[in-house]
Amino acid sequence: AGEYKTSSERSFIMIKPDGTSRQIVGDVIKRFEQRGYKLVAIKSLVPSQELAKEHYIDLASRPFYPALVKYITCGTPVIAMVWEGKDIIRQGRRMVGATNPLEADPGSIRGQYCISVGRNIIHASDAFDSATKEIGLWFDPKELADYEPIAAPMIT
Ligand code: TYD
Repeated sequence: AGEYKTSSERSFIMIKPDGTSRQIVGDVIKRFEQRGYKLVAIKSLVPSQELAKEHYIDLASRPFYPALVKYITCGTPVIAMVWEGKDIIRQGRRMVGATNPLEADPGSIRGQYCISVGRNIIHASDAFDSATKEIGLWFDPKELADYEPIAAPMIT
């Protein structure tokens, strides 16, 4: 964190299976795009048990861990994304809202679309270290775009 590379900071944002089912993919992308963040990777996939377990490994001792892994691997795809831009890790958490949707700001994504902690539709990295780990876990480095947005021409 701190002053290190804040303008190119990256976060792992994932729409969970219930978010995909609820058809909020477009709205989530729109919120991050319109805020000014840059999409550097996106894919739809059904995560393996191994991937889901590793993603949530810090919660392995919690009673809800098996149900959490089952939910993430239920067979409905997740939308895995990497977003980049100033303060994206902290802002992504604010845009997503509190873990328990009943505590989430009503204008946040969780606060707008859900009411259950076990079906809270979206994930966002909570710190620089977890963002780095999660991006490496879900994406191959070759899948991460490194680009400057092209200027839109006024006349083609
Ligand atoms: P956590 O990393 O604490 O929250 P967040 O997703 O906001 O970073 O927990 C990971 C997920 O585990 C959370 O999104 C939903 C699930 N979970 C439960 O099902 N029950 C719980 O009591 C908690 C704390 C989390």
